[in-house]
Amino acid sequence: MKHVFYFLKQIHRHTGAVLYFNIMAMMGIGLLDGISILLLVPMISMSGIVNINAEELPFMEVFQFLNYFSAPIALLIILVIYVGIAAGQILLQRRISIRNSEIQQGFLRYLQIETYQSLLKANWGFFIKNRRSDLIHILTAEISRTNTGTQSFLKLIASFIITLLQIGLAFWLSPSITSFVLLCGLVLIFMNRKFLKRSLDLGKKNVELGKNFLAGITDQINGMKDIKSNSLEEQRMEWYRSITKQIQDRHVEFTYVKTTSQAYYKIASAVFIAVFVFVAIQLFAAQAAQLTLIILIFSRLWPRVSGIQSSMEQIAMALPSLQVVRALQKETSETLEFDQGSDKFVEPMQIEHGIQCTNASFRYDKQKQVYALKDINLFIPANKTTAIVGKSGAGKSTLIDLLMGLNLPETGDILVDGRLLTPKRILSLRSSLSYVSQDPFLFNTTIRENLLLVSPYATDDALMEALSFASAYEFVKQLPDGLDTVIGDRGIKLSGGERQRLVLARAILRKPSVLVLDEATSALDTENESNIQEAIDRLKGKMTIIVIAHRLSTIRDADQVVVLEDGKIIQQGKYSHLSTANGVFRRMLHRQLVGS
Ligand SMILES: Nc1ncnc2c1ncn2[C@@H]1O[C@H](COP(=O)(O)OP(=O)(O)OP(=O)(O)O)[C@@H](O)[C@H]1O
Ligand SMILES: [Mg+2]
Repeated sequence: MKHVFYFLKQIHRHTGAVLYFNIMAMMGIGLLDGISILLLVPMISMSGIVNINAEELPFMEVFQFLNYFSAPIALLIILVIYVGIAAGQILLQRRISIRNSEIQQGFLRYLQIETYQSLLKANWGFFIKNRRSDLIHILTAEISRTNTGTQSFLKLIASFIITLLQIGLAFWLSPSITSFVLLCGLVLIFMNRKFLKRSLDLGKKNVELGKNFLAGITDQINGMKDIKSNSLEEQRMEWYRSITKQIQDRHVEFTYVKTTSQAYYKIASAVFIAVFVFVAIQLFAAQAAQLTLIILIFSRLWPRVSGIQSSMEQIAMALPSLQVVRALQKETSETLEFDQGSDKFVEPMQIEHGIQCTNASFRYDKQKQVYALKDINLFIPANKTTAIVGKSGAGKSTLIDLLMGLNLPETGDILVDGRLLTPKRILSLRSSLSYVSQDPFLFNTTIRENLLLVSPYATDDALMEALSFASAYEFVKQLPDGLDTVIGDRGIKLSGGERQRLVLARAILRKPSVLVLDEATSALDTENESNIQEAIDRLKGKMTIIVIAHRLSTIRDADQVVVLEDGKIIQQGKYSHLSTANGVFRRMLHRQLVGS
């Protein structure tokens, strides 16, 4: 039962009053249903086929007025009332179904929006920790699975209310017979509790399997090139066969649980009706009219009661999905990047002096002793170029994440113009910054839309200018559809270097005051690289540039060079100074010169 209440609370939080309206309407249907059963008595007694002593029923006075009419007219009146009630019931039912669908779809959308919004607001640390495919899985499969739960839940309330009303009716007709029926019913419901437990377990397994399934598929589709070139197809297929088999088994098992409990109900109800008729005739023979009615009521009610059981099983199965969605919301709200109200427009920040790192340390895993950055003291002057170099894994990208406020230092501070980087100032800094990551991302749409993403109102001329800056104008012009060429998933239809140039153009289009380039030209040939280098040099003095480079020749004109090793700054100064002073930088430079 606690599962049902959980759903009730969630749906109520979203729909509020509409839910009550629906519940009232369902009670209306229940009542009408009851009345139409009661109407059968005068009908039957008028037919004269069965002689039941209708006078002893408590509600018969209502039909006294029929005595003033002749028998055929009275029957007609009853039948007209009957049809009227049936029509009313059907129309009301239709209304409820529409409302229910509104509630159900509305609740789904509410969950979707709440979850996605909280996800977008979570900090970068949250995304480092969580598997992407898990997030996708929750946002798609799990959320839509809760939908079956909502549907069953609404069905459950309807059945429950109608059942209660009709039991009330039966009770009014004859408390003794009804109590006897109910007692048998309760025993049955109690016996079926174990099916609920199994449904809940199945639901949990479903969530786990679904997650692994999507994660595996995503990985494989992304890594298809490596799978094919290493001929790993058969091995991967083996995995696929095994996991789909598990999913298949799970579904069959749920059908097994469902049909078993239904079968129990049906067999039990047959036995039950037989026993009931036997006992009732012995015990309650004197109340023939009541007995007839109660048998009628319960024979109509019985399918509903077994419906209640199957709705509960569906809910139990969907509940783990709702729980993971809620858990995700909870986790994201705990890792909220900014306080409420930060989604308003923020002024881009103008940096006057520079960005300062004081004693900043950072580690990805707080349980471990390994620091990705340790005691970083660094000043990045405004409108100058700072180059960060160092071996792979030295902590260069991590340092940049820290400067952008994506990760927060565990100890130490980041200051912009001497002021702490508060959440509001982080947003303001980011809106004045363009970042080209080491692993640039392009959407599967046209080149134009990819560019307009950062600057929706840019003119075609501005686009062309940005493209020429990044030495991308020529190749875009040669594409069959030019700016309107669709570039495939993550830009797969472009070469690595073309992708990099496009992302660089996008970064420039935004006219940032801070430009961050993480190996933005690593995939380029020397000619294109030096073209871009010249273009970037022209920006000198106009914006703050932070550049990470492996090819040291590209940073010759930087105002300062920072050398990182194992998360620490080991050298810092002008290029000309570092290239002559004894140290790591000179050795790196020497090795590259010899290599080329
Ligand atoms: N998401 C992460 N979770 C845990 N550890 C990470 C994560 N990202 C990076 N690291 C670790 O932090 C250290 C620094 O990584 P970082 O990406 O900053 O290196 P880098 O200097 O940019 O290297 P490269 O030149 O190869 O890009 C590495 O030892 C890496 O293993
Ligand atoms: Mg890196």
